[in-house]
Amino acid sequence: MSDGLVVVGGSYAGLQVAASAREFGYSEPIRLIAGEPVLPYQRPPLSKGYLTGKTTPAMLPLRGEAFYRDAAIDVELGRHALRIDPHSRTVELSDGRSVRFDKLVLATGARPRPLPVPGGDLAGVVALRSLADADQLRALAAEAKRVVVIGGGFIGLEVASALVSAERSVTVVEAAGRLMARAVPPVLSEFFADLHQARGVRLKLGCGVTALRSVQGRVTEVLCADGTSEPADLVVVGIGVVPNVELAQDLGLACDDGILVDGCARTTAPGVFAAGDCARQPHPHVASPTVRLESVQNAIEQGKAAASVLAGSPAANGAVPWFWSDQYDVKLQMAGLPQGSDRVAVRGAVEEGKFSVFHFRAGRLVGVDSVNRPAEHMLARKLLAAGVALTPEQAADTAFDLRGALAASAEASP
Ligand code: APR
Repeated sequence: MSDGLVVVGGSYAGLQVAASAREFGYSEPIRLIAGEPVLPYQRPPLSKGYLTGKTTPAMLPLRGEAFYRDAAIDVELGRHALRIDPHSRTVELSDGRSVRFDKLVLATGARPRPLPVPGGDLAGVVALRSLADADQLRALAAEAKRVVVIGGGFIGLEVASALVSAERSVTVVEAAGRLMARAVPPVLSEFFADLHQARGVRLKLGCGVTALRSVQGRVTEVLCADGTSEPADLVVVGIGVVPNVELAQDLGLACDDGILVDGCARTTAPGVFAAGDCARQPHPHVASPTVRLESVQNAIEQGKAAASVLAGSPAANGAVPWFWSDQYDVKLQMAGLPQGSDRVAVRGAVEEGKFSVFHFRAGRLVGVDSVNRPAEHMLARKLLAAGVALTPEQAADTAFDLRGALAASAEASP
């Protein structure tokens, strides 16, 4: 028996490598260095149902204890990997022990980008990534009357929708001119801006933050670049994430806004893999040479790809990327990666809150964002996976049979 596999990071990617390695027949020891003091858990509800109380703590674990026991996955809770020695192939843990490895997976994730202004670290200023963050936010929100959310991306808007109420005011301060600009086209930014405003959230778009003011160390005010200010007893910062690449850099692995990997999650060092939010990969559904994807689905797919190599039958990650966000009763589901698209077509009625935006690049369908159209989202994933030829006019025409186009393309391909 070898020293086996050590996985650093106990979230979706790390757990998936361990689980799939076993499923695919890897029989050496597996050790999961989980970092946090609790078993791997679902993160998406932390900015959604967990804040409203709809999702309870008992609903969060991804797997029960019995799973780890039965799969012979040794989980180290509450311990971090401090250093990795590539020569002796050992990982030094925060409890003083060292563990040896034959194969290593870095599934170290990402951390919230700190707010780069004076007062960004005051009491009452929180980011949201971990269960501990969510518990802290819940406790602070219970007492708060005036919440300012900095960043109108996915985290900020989900938190705004969970926290706004008759008793509590919520203001979202976003530096860009529109909401979720990194990921969605203007038609969706406008739809969500209207939605949030209709539910009582104040939006300040195109508004940078210059400083946070405090009284006795607690935040009281957010100062904006336009000279205005917002009173606040709670500030939630959701301005993106930074990949955790420090261990990889110490190991001498190639990094560039993420640990560089191939389609099978292999880094530049033999026997060392990286998967999830920390990894940057080439991807068949992406126009740029490499991409770092921040999603549960990608963590799972890359985890499977790494496990396939460990088990001796490499299978690259080529799945259509998808992602979702819940805000109020609106479900936004995104398939494909439409960055750089040159044309969009809207299918369905924006005013009724049920529609999809089809993205095209050089005449090819590259992504579909659906609002309250789950069946169309599922179909979109299949259309993208099959590379079905579709025109913007066909996409916009609700009488055009998308299912039929998919079936015809399946028949046409050998
Ligand atoms: N002031 C105000 N807004 C800012 C600032 C700033 N100083 N810096 C960045 N922003 C805005 C960006 O313009 C963007 O709209 O913050 C927003 C961040 O949005 P995202 O990139 O979607 O990041 P976030 O919402 O933090 O989510 C991080 O968590 O839910 C997961 O996978 C999801 O990738 C996402 C990650």
